[in-house]
Amino acid sequence: MSRDIFGSRFGALVAMAGSAVGLGNLWRFPYLVGENGGAAFIIVYVILSFMICLPIFISEFVVGRRSQKNAYAAFRDLSGGSAWRWVGLFTVIVPLVVLSYYCVIGGWSIDYFLKALTFSFTGSESQSAMNTMFNDLVTSVWTPLICHTGFLLATVLIVMVGIKDGIEKFSKIMMPVLFFIVISIAIYSVTLPGAKAGLDYLFNPDFSKIDAKACAAALGQAFFSLSLGFGTIMTYASYVDKKENALFQSTATAASDLTFALIAGIAIMPAVFAFGINPQSGPGLVFETLPYVFGQMPAGGFVAILFFLALLVAALTSSISMLEVAVAFLVEEKGMSRIAACMLLFVVCLVIGALCSLSFGPLSDFKIAGRTIFDFFDHLSSNILMTLGSLLTVLFVGWRLKKTDVYDEFTNGGTLSRNAKLFGVLWFLIRYVCPLAIIAIFISGLIG
Ligand code: ALA
Repeated sequence: MSRDIFGSRFGALVAMAGSAVGLGNLWRFPYLVGENGGAAFIIVYVILSFMICLPIFISEFVVGRRSQKNAYAAFRDLSGGSAWRWVGLFTVIVPLVVLSYYCVIGGWSIDYFLKALTFSFTGSESQSAMNTMFNDLVTSVWTPLICHTGFLLATVLIVMVGIKDGIEKFSKIMMPVLFFIVISIAIYSVTLPGAKAGLDYLFNPDFSKIDAKACAAALGQAFFSLSLGFGTIMTYASYVDKKENALFQSTATAASDLTFALIAGIAIMPAVFAFGINPQSGPGLVFETLPYVFGQMPAGGFVAILFFLALLVAALTSSISMLEVAVAFLVEEKGMSRIAACMLLFVVCLVIGALCSLSFGPLSDFKIAGRTIFDFFDHLSSNILMTLGSLLTVLFVGWRLKKTDVYDEFTNGGTLSRNAKLFGVLWFLIRYVCPLAIIAIFISGLIG
């Protein structure tokens, strides 16, 4: 049976951009920028994204499209059946770990979208009322579990339909909607009285804040945001037509991800500052600060509906890419049907995700290495597993694959002259710069 592939260049691009654009852009990037020197941090982020992350992205692209197989088989076949296959298996397992807790947050997004639809934030009396609202949700048992199940079910159903008719079609419709919503909120946000303080927070350059820690934060964020090191880009690239340009697809995805993150910052921070609030990062920003802001701003009820819809869509387009990694593995290596693979993974993620969800409530005292289950998975995957996956991938491409094969895949058999000219630089970055930079952040992450 022939493999399903993306039906068009645009389809492949929006699917990859969908994998990249997610919670990382909406709840971490704006805060990290403001905390770490505004425009100075953005400059560092752009340099690192294009010097380190883009070569890693292209490496994943090359491995995926060269093999046209799932991540496990890609490593196995391109290395002639060697032990590198276990790295492939590693990149199949990591997205499942991420997916399990990502779906919990996806579930919270469903709950908040429903709250927004019933205008639950309108006229919110205080920030602490919003803190209590969030705390009540996450510490309860059934509501987050039901919402988590709903989010996971949506993810599974889209992936079950297939690459072209499921993942590609969903991304083609929803990614433009997502950009439209966030741009609209950004325009509204900058017109609020007092918005300038938020723009200053985001964009005033403060180079004194750029130190090793800020660089590590920028690189870690870029890994997470570009979905690097956990098989998703590799798997999606295996569905990209051989005539497409690896450099164009990779650069366009990285540029869309960066653009979205900046627009998200412009949508969120001016509004937060307009109401005299100090921004938080992570769940606190999205589920506590912003609902209070929406409750105060004119027409905030409608802005809240749009915002939580955007959050839901951004999370879904990322979660489907994570699920597809393991689905491709089970279908191609274990001979399962797509439907059976999706159902099996639904059960696996449901169980692990339920434990993550309950770790805010009844299981909050259960700790692994001093962290709750949710925090442990989040920390393990963001700080260790993704970094390790990226490192092993660039080492594989730079030191195990033949240079001529990488050149061939990157230049479409030597037919793309611009790619051919840039190959020398790319090869140097993949072989030397990326591994060293990744090791540096890995160590700083462990120390920090
Ligand atoms: N790249 C995805 C995100 O930013 C995982 O959320």
